[in-house]
Amino acid sequence: MPWFRRPSNEPLWQDEFSVYTADERYVNRRQFTKFLTLTSLAMFAGQVWILVKSWLYRAPEFPRQVVARAGEIPVGGVKLFRYPVAEEQCIMVRTAEDRYVAYSQKCTHLSCAVYFSQENNRLECPCHEGYFSITDGTVLQGPPTRPLPAVILERRGDELVAVGMQTRRES
Ligand code: FES
Repeated sequence: MPWFRRPSNEPLWQDEFSVYTADERYVNRRQFTKFLTLTSLAMFAGQVWILVKSWLYRAPEFPRQVVARAGEIPVGGVKLFRYPVAEEQCIMVRTAEDRYVAYSQKCTHLSCAVYFSQENNRLECPCHEGYFSITDGTVLQGPPTRPLPAVILERRGDELVAVGMQTRRES
């Protein structure tokens, strides 16, 4: 006698799943209903979680920080500074007599440091030749798909004050 047969000649699985053939439809429907219920509950819980998360979300607050003095850097010159935290390096460029722009120095591709190419009037990433517009940080060329986060600058007398970061998703 094979090991999987009971003495009554019923297969072992029938003993472990003791459901009569006539009831199989009922069990399938019950299992399906259970599946639908659990799936619906999981989706409902996910929606509640998203809702609670959006309620609790608060826009990040940025410090006001003096990052340079007007006239401190020449036209076409560059100043590096850290903002909004000590680990985040930023680059400021004086593009005209009275115009300053600043961006995160971290390339949006793989985080290499970008530098200002005065010759090409753009920010360049040496790692994979990603180029960014000096005007607004958008991608001009290369693998990056997102623009550089811009530092929002305000003028306070002869001080240039960083007051926030602006991140755009697409170039
Ligand atoms: S890290 Fe800048 S282009 Fe790849």
